[in-house]
Amino acid sequence: MWKRIATLGRKTSLELRLCSKAIQFRQPLGRVFLHQESIPRLPVPPLDQTLSRFLDTCRPLLSANELNEVEKLAKEFGKSGTELQKLLETRAQEELNWLEEWWLHTAYLDYRLPVVVHSSPGILCPRQKFNSRDDQLDYTARLISGVLDYKKVVDNQNVPIEAMGNNPLCMYQYYQILSACRIPGKKRDSFAVYPPTEKDPPRHIIIICNNAFFKLDVYDKDDNPLTTNQLCEQLRKIFKKSFSVKSPGVGILTSENRNTWGLYYDKLKNLDPENEKNLKLIEKSIATVCFDKAIPFDGRDEFSVGINQMNHGCGSKNNSANRWFDKTLQFIVSEDGQVGLTYEHSSAEGPPIVSILDHALIHARSNKTAPDGSIDGLPEPEVLNFNVNEEIQHGIEEAGKNIDTLISDLSLVGYVFKDFGKEAIKKLKVSPDAFIQVGFQLAYNKIYGRSCATYESASLRKYRHGRTDTIRSCTNASHEFAQAMISSKFSEDVETKRKLLLNAINAHRQYTQWAVGGGGVDRHLLGLKLIAKEHGKNIPDLLMEPSVAETSHWKLSTSQVASKTGCLLGFGPVVPDGYGLCYNPQSNSINFSISSWKTSPETESQRMAESIGSALVECYQLLSSGNVQAKL
Ligand code: COA
Repeated sequence: MWKRIATLGRKTSLELRLCSKAIQFRQPLGRVFLHQESIPRLPVPPLDQTLSRFLDTCRPLLSANELNEVEKLAKEFGKSGTELQKLLETRAQEELNWLEEWWLHTAYLDYRLPVVVHSSPGILCPRQKFNSRDDQLDYTARLISGVLDYKKVVDNQNVPIEAMGNNPLCMYQYYQILSACRIPGKKRDSFAVYPPTEKDPPRHIIIICNNAFFKLDVYDKDDNPLTTNQLCEQLRKIFKKSFSVKSPGVGILTSENRNTWGLYYDKLKNLDPENEKNLKLIEKSIATVCFDKAIPFDGRDEFSVGINQMNHGCGSKNNSANRWFDKTLQFIVSEDGQVGLTYEHSSAEGPPIVSILDHALIHARSNKTAPDGSIDGLPEPEVLNFNVNEEIQHGIEEAGKNIDTLISDLSLVGYVFKDFGKEAIKKLKVSPDAFIQVGFQLAYNKIYGRSCATYESASLRKYRHGRTDTIRSCTNASHEFAQAMISSKFSEDVETKRKLLLNAINAHRQYTQWAVGGGGVDRHLLGLKLIAKEHGKNIPDLLMEPSVAETSHWKLSTSQVASKTGCLLGFGPVVPDGYGLCYNPQSNSINFSISSWKTSPETESQRMAESIGSALVECYQLLSSGNVQAKL
């Protein structure tokens, strides 16, 4: 019951599992259970509301003819869609969250492209200064100790409950991150979590070093977490041993297309019981930790090199085989002080992952390794020897070539905007997030002379098991503002431009409030499509219309992931001719990552970075030169 939650039936939930735990131990229901009970269910928005909001977002993106056609289809759907709407509402009454399982499958487990670049973000942390191998090992020991410190909080169901304004948030995702792993299938993947209450709970992490895998028990025989000194000594042994292990580099298979990896996973597992045992050990481990080789900078800045290293490992000759990309939480400590992680996205969004990372980093910073705790009597770290045959060896070589091709097409750059940060924007009395998003719209218009479909992740965690909806950041108001900015007609008219900017910021803020309040457009339309499929009904014409698809061809796929420790998250673009933009607003600066495909003649990450920088400065100048205040 505890495992493979994603493949179990509709009623499976953390609440059920916590409830069963309470019964099992005859204890009062856990704190988390009671909190979760108080979180409302995700509503199904009224159909008319969604259609009207949706049509509004089409206006800046479609021609007059396309818009006419879409309006006609929307009107028809307003009448014919009531049956689907009712079916969806019924589902919402029966399910804890009507979207949860659909989203898990549509966005993640059924998605067959490699998780690397396409789905799993990398997170780069502030660089450490390592003068020697000892420094690297010592830091890693403290980082692991920070993760174990956090695990204690999770195991005791004591993760502080977060809130958005006055609304407490669903904390479910926090309990799906440690000891978790995605498992490939030939057509569909699954996901497993191994909680602390099961009979033989995970007590180990997996260290990956020189492409070899090691099991490291991180608790002693009395169940105490190892001290940093003990961890450091164990890591030293692993490091030494890793040079003599002849590793076939099976980790690179996890970077493959999911169907291919699903096929090889079975071959690997069935070839040798030792392989099967090793796979299980990796999947069950609390997390993985990768000791990376340094990546040469070759004239690039350390921020850009680092975000690539965290995102994909920089290729088969560098660190891409030194990974298990299916692992939910995978820390990376490079010998040159680049530190970060990559995470498999199925079970959680960036913010909970960053909370764990922040905790571990702060712990590592403040807890120097003390010379306590003897290593006498601790079990030796265990090498996981994988047996491969010629066929699997061939798969490993192909996977190496494929990831190298993927990476060679990716242009991912890190950019620290230093002119101002969140605090200066707040002083202008506007929302920093809306300000940055309108800045993106201007940046895009400055390069292309037009607006484009833009996705921003909005948290649905106000609702039970909520994940995300889309903030459609390209609004009529942002389009009007950006067009005015690039037109010579308004060159001297600062007052008009300022008003248009404030309108755009307010429109973005409004859409954000709709989206986080369960009134976004995209998940509702997806739900209507999927309920039609599930009941064998025709997909409504509106949802099959090509120009409607155009309004979700996300040429800008964006996400804010804030952190306490100045980290930066980076992911790939979601369409061939688009950009992936991630940002972390700091008090006095903003960290950005910008990605695009090199094979697209339309996009160029560096140019977009520069355009974002100048757009933000222009927006700031407009607002700081007047006294007009935003409404929201
Ligand atoms: N004047 C002054 N300050 C303002 C303001 C205004 N008009 N509007 C907002 N602020 C302040 C806020 O109070 C907040 O202050 P704090 O830093 O002290 O907390 C700060 O500015 C940030 O607010 P804002 O920029 O409006 O953003 P937000 O925190 O409301 O975040 C989203 C907006 C959309 C990013 C957020 O709701 C969300 O959904 N985040 C999750 C996204 C996600 O899951 N991403 C990961 C996908 S992997």
